[in-house]
Amino acid sequence: MRTACVILAAGQGKRMRSTLPKVLHRVCGMPMLQCVVDAAKKLDPERLIVVAGRHVDLFRREIPDPGIQFVLQKDPRGTGDALKSALTALKGFSGEVVVLNGDTPLICPATIKKFLSMHQKEKAHVSVLSFAADDPTGYGRIMRGDKRKFVAIVEEKDADNRLRAVREVNSGIYAMHSSALSLVGRIALNRRKGEYYLTDIVSLAMKRGLSAHAFLIGREDEFMGVNTREELLRASEVLRQAIVRGLIGRGVDIIDPASVFIHPHASVGKGTVIYPNVFIEGDTRIGRGATIFPHVRICGSVIGDRAVVRDSTVIESSRIMPGASVGPFSHIRPGSEIGAGAKIGNFVELKKAVIGKGTKASHLSYLGDTTIGSGVNVGAGTITCNYDGTEKHRTVIGDGVFIGSDTQLVAPVRIGKGAYIGAGSTITKDVPPGSLAVSRTEQRTVRNWAIKRKSRKKQ
Ligand code: UD1
Ligand code: CA
Repeated sequence: MRTACVILAAGQGKRMRSTLPKVLHRVCGMPMLQCVVDAAKKLDPERLIVVAGRHVDLFRREIPDPGIQFVLQKDPRGTGDALKSALTALKGFSGEVVVLNGDTPLICPATIKKFLSMHQKEKAHVSVLSFAADDPTGYGRIMRGDKRKFVAIVEEKDADNRLRAVREVNSGIYAMHSSALSLVGRIALNRRKGEYYLTDIVSLAMKRGLSAHAFLIGREDEFMGVNTREELLRASEVLRQAIVRGLIGRGVDIIDPASVFIHPHASVGKGTVIYPNVFIEGDTRIGRGATIFPHVRICGSVIGDRAVVRDSTVIESSRIMPGASVGPFSHIRPGSEIGAGAKIGNFVELKKAVIGKGTKASHLSYLGDTTIGSGVNVGAGTITCNYDGTEKHRTVIGDGVFIGSDTQLVAPVRIGKGAYIGAGSTITKDVPPGSLAVSRTEQRTVRNWAIKRKSRKKQ
């Protein structure tokens, strides 16, 4: 089946009371529109068109997908007008056009596929996917006549009391044969709201003797339209629970499912344990048998098998190799890589730091713009002085180096393989392999100084 997909996403979303376009608001950390795009892509459409409003550049930034053609609906005047804005992008396309609303983030591709096959089987020109709502408030009602024959979609504002009581409602998902698309241009302005309703296409089609159907399928949850922040929270919670339940089913041990937030694009391997109050954001990938302790936020990172992330740690755009341990209270900033079995301890900050296998930085350090080899011991309080006020410089530390506590490494500087740095040193020059460098002043000890001072005071 040849399909094209149009996502309507240009509405301002006044009911959100926000400056951000409605469909860019996030559920489980992901823009609603991305959820709908993900579902649309599962249909493998020949064209994927998103109708965006004035903020089209913001849309491109938030959903950077070369497979999407963004079209501009300059002055959003309703869903009918939105689809009209996509007609140029649909030129020359022949097949089924699937229309989705950008504010229904929970839709399942399987339901849309089922809907499409029903639409095709009936050889319908226009079809709408409907569902039974517990509370139909806000949705367009499905009006049926004799023998339950589909007649029209009536928006709440235009419905009488009898129709308002109808619980079968429009999900905002439509299928139309490309030959019926010209009807979009004929939709008349709804005077009450000053908008062009896409839903009017149903009666337009029927008047012209084309076939229109409403297929009542799917579960209510997945069609939830988000118009207010309250509904956004509800949708986010439904998605959050589905993600957490899905992971538990696949063998992830989530100790408090109510307090864990996991991005829809993230993955977690079997046997991994996740403690309470954990946020896993972006397309983070966590391997098998890892442990994520409480109050951790991991964003766009890779965590290897059996790695341990201890309490109150933040990891951003970094890679933690298998068996490594990070935290408690570590900050791993973008561009870092922690080698297998390495240990990054409390109050250690990393930035663009590559840490070799089995290397340890256990306490109170800043390691930035650094490459550290394997088996290195970084003493407490070690600081790479990477910034000279204008530029950033790198520190390179070879395998097996021992860095004494309270050391400053003034970059650019290189410490050769197996070298030792005495505690309390400020290292400004390269240290050759196998050497010892100490830069502190020598200790002076004055014997009996304190005792003498005391007796002097007594006199
Ligand atoms: C719409 C339907 C309603 C259905 C409900 C399902 C119409 C007239 N009504 O109502 O029957 O039950 O969705 O959730 O279609 N949009 C544009 N340009 C515009 C206006 C809207 O692109 O000018 C986009 C919005 O960004 C949104 C979608 O179209 O993603 C739906 O618009 P919205 O205003 O939320 O429609 P509803 O009132 O929810
Ligand atoms: Ca809506």
